[in-house]
Amino acid sequence: MIAECRIIDLPKIDRREGNLTPVEGGNHIPFDIARVYYMYDIPGGQSRGGHAHKRLEQLIVAAMGSFDVVVDDGKDRRTFHLDRAYYGLYVPRMMWRELVNFSSGSICLVMASLLYNEDEYIRDYDQFVAVRPAA
Ligand code: TYD
Repeated sequence: MIAECRIIDLPKIDRREGNLTPVEGGNHIPFDIARVYYMYDIPGGQSRGGHAHKRLEQLIVAAMGSFDVVVDDGKDRRTFHLDRAYYGLYVPRMMWRELVNFSSGSICLVMASLLYNEDEYIRDYDQFVAVRPAA
């Protein structure tokens, strides 16, 4: 399961006037994008996340600054450092994640496969481990 978490390199269109990165659902990333959200004004050193999603898939990008994403399938745990706007971490369904070590001024951009639905969240780690598919 944890092997499904992977860095996806996104196109980077270099121009003298600045860079541009497009993200097309189903093309650059393996799902259609239903929702985009971003976190900002995050105090330096702050942590967020601490949940899993039953069916949601995500691409997490450090659009500005840097942070670490700790992913955990209930058996194995891995940390990815994100610090560029032209790649992101693909997080499949049923993966516990925590976002830690935000640099001040960072922006965390998330593309998600489903609309927001609180019933989709698992916010208790023990419950996550209990219901996760056997590896
Ligand atoms: P949450 O996903 O718990 O944030 P974190 O990544 O820090 O765990 O969301 C924080 C709050 O924002 C929560 O009250 C739900 C709300 N929210 C929405 O209303 N829509 C959204 O798309 C998201 C992601 C969160």
